[in-house]
Amino acid sequence: MCGIIGYHGLEKTSDILYSSLLKMEYRGYDSCGIALFKNNKVSIYKNIGRVSKLVTNNPITFDSLIGIGHTRWASCGEVSLRNAHPLKSFNKQFTLVHNGVVENVEYLKEKYFHDVIFNTDTDSEVIICLIEKFYHEDLLKTIFQVCKLIEGSYSLIIIDENDPNNLYCAKNKAPLIIGKKGFSTYVASDIQALHDSPLIYHMEDLTFAKIGKDIIIKDQFFNDKDIFFMPNLIENEPIKMKDESYMLKEIYEQQEVIQRLKAKYLIHNEVTFQDNIKNLLQDFDEVFLIGCGTSYHACLIAEEFFNKLNIPSRSYVGSEASINNLLFSKKPLIIVISQSGETHDLIKTVDLLSNYKNRILLITNEKHSSLAFKLDHVLLMEAQKEVAVASTKTYLASYLLLYFIYLYIKKEPLKQELDILYHAIGNAQSIDYTHIVEMIIKAKKIMLMGRGIDYKVALEGSLKLKEISYLPTEAYLSGELKHGTMALMDEETIVIGLMSNVNTINLMKGNIEEIKSRKANVYLLGCDKICDVFCVDISMLSPLLLVVYMQLISYYTAKALGNNVDFPRNLAKSVTV
Ligand code: F6R
Repeated sequence: MCGIIGYHGLEKTSDILYSSLLKMEYRGYDSCGIALFKNNKVSIYKNIGRVSKLVTNNPITFDSLIGIGHTRWASCGEVSLRNAHPLKSFNKQFTLVHNGVVENVEYLKEKYFHDVIFNTDTDSEVIICLIEKFYHEDLLKTIFQVCKLIEGSYSLIIIDENDPNNLYCAKNKAPLIIGKKGFSTYVASDIQALHDSPLIYHMEDLTFAKIGKDIIIKDQFFNDKDIFFMPNLIENEPIKMKDESYMLKEIYEQQEVIQRLKAKYLIHNEVTFQDNIKNLLQDFDEVFLIGCGTSYHACLIAEEFFNKLNIPSRSYVGSEASINNLLFSKKPLIIVISQSGETHDLIKTVDLLSNYKNRILLITNEKHSSLAFKLDHVLLMEAQKEVAVASTKTYLASYLLLYFIYLYIKKEPLKQELDILYHAIGNAQSIDYTHIVEMIIKAKKIMLMGRGIDYKVALEGSLKLKEISYLPTEAYLSGELKHGTMALMDEETIVIGLMSNVNTINLMKGNIEEIKSRKANVYLLGCDKICDVFCVDISMLSPLLLVVYMQLISYYTAKALGNNVDFPRNLAKSVTV
């Protein structure tokens, strides 16, 4: 899930590439690099770590008409300078940046490069070496032919040392967008990296492009394809204060998201959607929800909502949905949740479900994403850009949109619950979390527990905490304690109990006694007066409030440990592999 950029134009190419890479760091940030023409040769500048270091260490004083850049999230080959892109072919004529995965890399190496030693451990190197091997006069055609051999996903930008005027591109199952602004042409994995180009063109799968003075696009049969640019309606980048983290800013913005969702989806407290979505919500017999990570946890919440409507529902993790035979009912409603709209496992699943395309409802925060592009029924989260890798406000938005779907189907108006939630989130922001943070940092084992829907929010709380604090945490169903997990309870354990569900509070109290008698430390968040943090009961929205508390606890824990809360190690915002 790397970010790639190519530039052709009269601006200072190195500056353009650097600033595009900074915008795409959310796609991966373990190493990065750029390639430019210098004295008729292609020069490469790379480093391990963040783009800011690359910029500081490599001030560029010359001009180049074209250039390419890459920010990496290592998926094949360790994080190292030699594995960082751009990568050259054996004889150095061709240079490549690649986003995606070559699934048949071993086969290709064995068939075409038997006994040859490669310079890197990456799967990408085989692509550029194949291009060198099969190169004939027409580079775009060579790329087209080589791409036929590749199984997997790719967006590629290639430069040829003998052609300082053109960029060559290919796309399949990984995003690639072309932007035009004046005499400049940009091509990148992300619309944010196109320098506010007023005109954009989304390349389709299995298409190929030559970008120079003119732009030539070829389709999957290598026929010419018309290119229609459309206006770029992307919102401006979020701005943050100098020392503030994006994550805290985004947690705080959740109140605004509530207001935006109300403004967009409510008329006189009644939920309303665009007509095609209303139609979809009127005619289905079972619900299937698909998401990954935090978005999957939102799917689990929806199961509770549909259960209350007596509608059967099932959730699938994206990576499983894409490899299993999903057994749908006759008239399924398939809800796909993805803040980025770029998650590879979801794109793969949606492609597999092409027969059901009209029955899929996408909930996303990115209206220009690959998934939004593929699907007709789209509900927007209205969360505005989420930069921090750990999702916060987009979870809240998914949760509330699912709640809106529940109200819409039930034909029930909204009462005061969103206003109460709004104020309760304000209270959560003003609490001092020092005590619980100290307890967490001191503990050797960190567990979150709950029953029913509280278990589902415990999963999200545990994910949030582990991804930015790097502390191993586990979420479990408190009723399952005595079937195994009780063995872990001792004075080095902290159990965070989540208790939004008033119906299960007595059962939880029994579990808490069992835990305490094994000397484990207990910290309770919920709607009962025994809780360390008492949360107002907002019925079906109470679990969401507990997640906001867990977001804040996770944030302050990670800060106390000195971690980079916005860009945690080994992760990326958009999981495109
Ligand atoms: C966790 C987190 C990830 C994402 C997951 C799916 O904080 O952000 O678990 O939720 O990678 O991403 P989207 O929603 O973009 O499909």
